[in-house]
Parts: sequence; structure tokens; C-alpha cells
Amino acid sequence: MKIAVVGRGNVGGGLADLWEKAGHDVRRIGRESSDVSEAEAVLVAVPGGAIAEALDNVQGIEGKMVIDATNLVGADPPEGYSSNAEFVKSRTNGPTAKSFNTNFAALYYRIGKARSTPSNLWCGDEEARQIVEQLNRDAGYEPVYAGPLENAALQENFLKLTFAINRGGLGRFFYRMAPPDQL
Ligand SMILES: NC(=O)c1ccc[n+]([C@@H]2O[C@H](COP(=O)([O-])OP(=O)(O)OC[C@H]3O[C@@H](n4cnc5c(N)ncnc54)[C@H](OP(=O)(O)O)[C@@H]3O)[C@@H](O)[C@H]2O)c1
Repeated sequence: MKIAVVGRGNVGGGLADLWEKAGHDVRRIGRESSDVSEAEAVLVAVPGGAIAEALDNVQGIEGKMVIDATNLVGADPPEGYSSNAEFVKSRTNGPTAKSFNTNFAALYYRIGKARSTPSNLWCGDEEARQIVEQLNRDAGYEPVYAGPLENAALQENFLKLTFAINRGGLGRFFYRMAPPDQL
């Protein structure tokens, strides 16, 4: 599959590596102006507050299947939208999914070493299901459907829960219990 990845950081770069290993043709896009009209799927993995600016630089995205992996850290979704994913949909009018925003990019390199296949949430349009579930599996995750795109705000808020658990001490406990070579 031809995939365009917008954002070359931990998430964009990491998933690009995993998808290339799975045989996909991945184009990595940064801040430069670009055209994604040849892509069958587009991943958006930029800082949550930069989503509008990032999409402004991408031509040919209308009607495309987009996976939005952003989280809103210290930022709100664009005015008039309850989530970044719904904002993405308003720009593209194509099949849209929210996914890869609830798992840590730092663990990508160990996905294959996990005792069982890690789950990864996605919510979004039915028309996006086939591609987002395939790209989850090709990255090493078992996709878990979390409902329609209207649930994207809930999925984006999941990070707050993760941070709260981490502050509560379970994060440190988790890492103590599961050192890198045992995941
Ligand atoms: N890290 C995680 O474990 C994780 C997990 C799930 C979701 N997320 C979310 O996924 C997104 C990416 O996280 P990350 O950890 O990959 O961040 P990151 O390593 O900082 O990478 C962000 C990338 O986005 C690029 N970027 C920034 N503004 C841009 C713009 N206007 N247009 C195009 N590209 C732009 C950055 O380019 P420059 O290098 O030029 O600044 C950088 O390559 C964030 O929304 C984050 O909250 C992160």
C-alpha cells in the first residue's frame, strides 16, 4: 500500500519503519509542502496543536483515507471541533480514523517481543475500517474498534487517563514489572 506519513517524529517515523518492514511503500513528509494524491492512506502524526498548519501544507488530501494519531497536549482541537480527528474529516471529507494515539511510540521496537499481541484502539468511519485494521496488524497490533468518529474526543482524552495513572505510580510499577527485555 502507498502510505504518506505527515510528521517524521517518534510516531510518524516509527510507524513508517514498521510499515516498510511489512512491505508498504511509505513516503515521509515533514514541514515542507507536499502532495499526497498518490497515497492510499495518510497518517497524520504532528503535535496536536499543529494539525491545521500541517494540513495546510498537504495538497491532494481531499477524499483520502486518513489516520489521525495526534494527541492534544497543552492544546485544544481547532475551534468548532470536539476532536482533531473530526477537524481532519472536515478538511478531507474522506474515510477517517483515530488510531495509534493511545500507545507509546517508545515501545514500537518491542511490539514483536510482547507476550501477547498488544491491542490498539481505533475509532472512526466504517469506510476506514479495512485499511486502519490492516495497518494496525502490519505494525504488530491487534486493532480494537472504539466506535464512530464522534468518539474521537474520548480517545484523545484517553491520554489524560494514562498520565493520571502514571502520576499515580502505576507507570513506574509497570516498567518495574515488565523490563524491556521481557515485553
Ligand atoms: N510519542 C508518543 O509515544 C505518542 C504516542 C501516541 C501519540 N502521540 C502523538 O502523536 C503526535 C506526534 O508525536 P511524536 O512523539 O511523533 O512527536 P515528535 O517526535 O515531536 O514529532 C512530531 C513531528 O511533527 C513535525 N511537525 C511539527 N509541526 C509540523 C507541521 N506544521 N507540519 C508538518 N510536520 C510538523 C515535527 O517536525 P520538526 O522536527 O521539524 O519539528 C516532527 O517531525 C503528537 O500529536 C503526539 O501527541 C505521541
